[in-house]
Amino acid sequence: MRKAFPTIAACDFGSSKVAILICEITPSGLEVAGFGQARSRGVRKGVVVNLDSTVEALQEAIHEAQSLSQVDIDFLVCGVTGTHIQCLQSNGMIPVREREIRQLDVQKVLETASTVSLPLDREVIQVIPQEYIVDGQDGIHQPVGMYGRRLEARVQIVTGAVTTLQNIRRCLQKADLDSDAFISHPLASARAVVGPQEREAGVCVVDIGAASTDMVVFQDGVLSWLQSISIGGMHLTNDLAVGLKTSLNDAEEIKHRYGCVLQPDPYEKVEIVGLAGAETRQIDRRLITTILQPRVEEILQLVRNELAKRGVDESLPSGIVLTGGSSLLKGLLDVSHSVFSLPCRLGRPERLGGLSEMISTPVYSSLVGLIQLGFEQSEDLKYMASVYQKKGVKKFQAQVFRWMKDFF
Ligand SMILES: Nc1ncnc2c1ncn2[C@@H]1O[C@H](COP(=O)(O)OP(=O)(O)OP(=O)(O)O)[C@@H](O)[C@H]1O
Ligand SMILES: [Mg+2]
Repeated sequence: MRKAFPTIAACDFGSSKVAILICEITPSGLEVAGFGQARSRGVRKGVVVNLDSTVEALQEAIHEAQSLSQVDIDFLVCGVTGTHIQCLQSNGMIPVREREIRQLDVQKVLETASTVSLPLDREVIQVIPQEYIVDGQDGIHQPVGMYGRRLEARVQIVTGAVTTLQNIRRCLQKADLDSDAFISHPLASARAVVGPQEREAGVCVVDIGAASTDMVVFQDGVLSWLQSISIGGMHLTNDLAVGLKTSLNDAEEIKHRYGCVLQPDPYEKVEIVGLAGAETRQIDRRLITTILQPRVEEILQLVRNELAKRGVDESLPSGIVLTGGSSLLKGLLDVSHSVFSLPCRLGRPERLGGLSEMISTPVYSSLVGLIQLGFEQSEDLKYMASVYQKKGVKKFQAQVFRWMKDFF
């Protein structure tokens, strides 16, 4: 394997695909070095339901990515999602000894804020600083260098189910990989598709995948909450298979080729294959829309209900950003406009350097965001390491120091 720069890789355990992206950390930024993907057969809604199939898919994806990149992976970020992911808010306060706030004080206050008692079956995945408060003055994002006697921090702690995370670790181990950090998928998708201005104004990112729809809301520039709903593109495919009496594979193809949630030309006909070798037949394309539309509305209304529960359905000036594979369904934006009555747009991941053409579609928003967050959050992970003393996080800390030594 060649070795020019340190490398970071991201793994997306989706319900339809297991994808791996490898980037080199070059002086000009992240450069895509390799990418591999395999059909996912063992993951449902973020949970491993078949260990062997997941390991097989993982091995296939990593083999493809490494044969393209010819590099080893120094640091691996793994995305996690599902209804087991929860977010809780916490606060911490420390007195400032030297009057001038130092990085060490910030580290300490984050440790204090993240010291919460969790049930034994839950594990901390990420600690995300929301804001700092210096002597009662709130809304501070970077307190280092400021004067004050009392430093407070507000954080969001993202937790996951221990057993679900252990099963993901097990799959990685069996594929000779080791996750250095877990990052929640909704946060990763948001990193890839929305910028600081939209977060400041208030925005909801909705990643519609195959079996789940991940949503995350940002207000005043910080994470407000995140959630995963167990519904996605697979439900659309199932509806088509039942409605058109075809196999799931054919229904999936029909969805990609002719799927549309806006009524098409009334005379347009399409040819489809029937079940068990039945002859091909012509159907009215409008039938496909009639089947897909109610389910798409249902998915978007579930998202809207969650926003309404938290009272933010009308206070998101930057509106809704739709991403994930199912956001490619034709007409989705129009339906979304009518459901939310908010600005809606499609979110594509920011382009990275190198071979990034192949991943610049909403299908890979989460994968790209994982790499970006994994790279940027190294400081946060170091704090977490000292608080939770997790083997993987410690390893990352050591790795970051090694990279720094190599570079300077
Ligand atoms: N052009 C398209 N039109 C309609 N649907 C599409 C299109 N392209 C992909 N999809 C759908 O997107 C879904 C896959 O999206 P994605 O890759 O984001 O899911 P995933 O990450 O594997 O799943 P999950 O996030 O639910 O675990 C599939 O249901 C697929 O049918
Ligand atoms: Mg996904």
